[in-house]
Amino acid sequence: MAERMSDELNRRNSAFDNKLRPTDFGAFVGQRKVRDRLMLAVEAAKERGEPLDHVLFSGPPGLGKTTLSYILGEAMGVRVKTTSGPVITKPGDLAGLLTSLEPGDIVFIDEIHRMAKTVEEYLYSAMEDYAIDIMIDQGPNARSVRLELPRFTLVGATTRIGLIAAPLRARFGLVNRLDYYEPDDLAEIIRRSAGKLGVDVDDDGALEIARRSRGTPRIANNLLRRVRDYAQVKAGNFITGEVARQSLGLLEIDPHGLDDMDRRILETICVKFGGGPVGLSTIAVSVGEEADTVEEAYEPFLIMGGYMERTPKGRVATELAYSRLGIKQASPTQGRLL
Ligand SMILES: Nc1ncnc2c1ncn2[C@@H]1O[C@H](COP(=O)(O)OP(=O)(O)OP(=O)(O)O)[C@@H](O)[C@H]1O
Ligand SMILES: [Mg+2]
Repeated sequence: MAERMSDELNRRNSAFDNKLRPTDFGAFVGQRKVRDRLMLAVEAAKERGEPLDHVLFSGPPGLGKTTLSYILGEAMGVRVKTTSGPVITKPGDLAGLLTSLEPGDIVFIDEIHRMAKTVEEYLYSAMEDYAIDIMIDQGPNARSVRLELPRFTLVGATTRIGLIAAPLRARFGLVNRLDYYEPDDLAEIIRRSAGKLGVDVDDDGALEIARRSRGTPRIANNLLRRVRDYAQVKAGNFITGEVARQSLGLLEIDPHGLDDMDRRILETICVKFGGGPVGLSTIAVSVGEEADTVEEAYEPFLIMGGYMERTPKGRVATELAYSRLGIKQASPTQGRLL
């Protein structure tokens, strides 16, 4: 129950995401290296009067990829046209989109790893030469027509960088990986969001919510929304540490932010494989998830939190994993770091 709740908290909720989404670099908390790099690129492009280089964002869900894409549009003073990989099924879809652009416009392709391979190849020349060669007609009349495109900026977002083909990846000038946020940054995001939602929160309250947010701003905001309900009804609209603890306890939120899949991965290593080492693909089969997803969407959080390690022989659980799962280590030698 608690676990399912956590999963649900990371699901997208567009209206709510939009309301709390920062619209400029100044309001974007954390990810300082990525932010500084982008701000520099924007300033340089504007000075030269050129469109921004193509930008790729990768990283687990809810860390700010879409947010940064819109911030780039604001900062460059250009329109952002949004689409997503699965929606562009034929080369014609892509041509239609790209030929409708004004110079400098940003095209944001979310989930770019899900774009059809046949379309992806057209994107290569669009990104590099600002032209697209389209076949028209069929049979003996078939011929290729070259469409010139305005200089545009492609911003791609993906949770699965491993599925981006090398030639596509190489065409992005700015490749940015977003990482999980530190509790202090999440607490800052929670304070700002609380202000927008019209509820008071003290530092202790913000940190209590931050610690349960799996390093993820979207989860932090969603938890805040639930704690706000509780604070409104029971605590005079003021979120203290105690109020946060009580309401999150009531909701059975894992105190350390582990979600259902996190726990299943740790259980697989600890219980089924005696603490490891165990290979990634074995873990993936065991939890019923794709290996890439386990590696890109779950392991970074588990490694950052000190629950598991990657070793040359495979994945190994730490003592912390056992204590979080509330189970005993099989034997003193197993499950220890190699
Ligand atoms: N650095 C940040 N500062 C403040 N709020 C943030 C930050 N990053 C993300 N958020 C908040 O988290 C929400 C989710 O972020 P966003 O939609 O950009 O994630 P995403 O990486 O695109 O996720 P997905 O992979 O699911 O599309 C935003 O609406 C915003 O409210
Ligand atoms: Mg997004």
